[in-house]
Amino acid sequence: MSGTPTLSVHGLHVSVDGKEILKGVDLEVPQGEVHALMGPNGSGKSTLAYALMGHPKYQVTAGAASFDGADLIALPADARAKLGLFLCFQYPTAIPGVTTVNFIRAALRAQGKEVPAREFLNRLAAEMALLKIDESFRQRYINDGFSGGEKKRSEILQLAMLRPRLAILDETDSGLDVDALRTVAEGVMQLAGPDMGVLVITHYPRILQYLRPDRVHVLHAGRVITSGGAELAQRIERGGYEPILGAVAAAPVA
Ligand SMILES: Nc1ncnc2c1ncn2[C@@H]1O[C@H](COP(=O)(O)OP(=O)(O)OP(=O)(O)O)[C@@H](O)[C@H]1O
Ligand SMILES: [Mg+2]
Repeated sequence: MSGTPTLSVHGLHVSVDGKEILKGVDLEVPQGEVHALMGPNGSGKSTLAYALMGHPKYQVTAGAASFDGADLIALPADARAKLGLFLCFQYPTAIPGVTTVNFIRAALRAQGKEVPAREFLNRLAAEMALLKIDESFRQRYINDGFSGGEKKRSEILQLAMLRPRLAILDETDSGLDVDALRTVAEGVMQLAGPDMGVLVITHYPRILQYLRPDRVHVLHAGRVITSGGAELAQRIERGGYEPILGAVAAAPVA
C-alpha cells in the first residue's frame, strides 16, 4: 500500500539555457519506497534530478514539486538538502583541496547533524568498511583522481553518513564492476527503509534485482509516459523502449 507522498511532482516543466527539457513531469514517491526512473539517453532523467535539488541552471517554468508538503521550487538548494533530499551525481565532481573527511563533516554541520569528532570518525570508519573503501580515501581530496567506481562509492559513503529522507541515485550503477555493484547496492539496501526512500535512475535492471523497486517509471522526451511494477524494468531489458513507446502511443487517451 502506498503511503503519503514524500516527493510529489506535478506538471513540471524545466528549461536549461532557454531550452525546454522537461515538459510536464508527474511523479510521486511515497515515504520510504524505492522507485526506479528509466528512460532513453537524453530523456531528461538527470535534468529532473538537478531541478529537484535546486541547481540554478535548471529553470522551473511551470508545474510544482513538493517534499513532505513543502514547496521545493521556492527553496534554495541548501534548504532542500536540509529537508532531506540527497543526490548521488551521475558525474561526481572533484574538489581539490577538500578532503573526504572534511567534506562530509561540513555537509553534516550544514544540515545541523554535527556529532562529536570521535563519534563522527567511528561512524565514518564503519561506513567505509561496509562499502569496502580503503582508509586512505579519508584524507584524499574528494573525487580527485578517484576512478569512476571509486567516485560512485564515495557518493554512497556521503549518503550513508548524511542519512537523507530521499536519496536520488543518478546512474550510481554505471561503471561499477560486478562486485562493486553488489557492495554499493547492499549499502543502499541497508539504508533504504521507512526512514529513507530511494529514486534510482538507471539503465540496467541488475541494480534493481538488489533494490527491488516498488515502482518503475519511464521518462521519455521530458514526460513520464508509463509506470509499472518491477517487471517493467525486465521488459525494457528484453525489448528496449520501442515496444513501450508504441504501446503508449496506441493507447486511447483517457
Ligand atoms: N545546456 C543545455 N543546452 C541544451 N540542451 C541541453 C543542455 N543541457 C542538457 N541538455 C539536453 O537535455 C536533454 C536531457 O539531458 P539529461 O542529461 O537530463 O538526459 P538523461 O535522461 O539523464 O540522459 P542519460 O541517460 O544519457 O544520462 C539532452 O538532450 C541534453 O542534450
Ligand atoms: Mg543522465
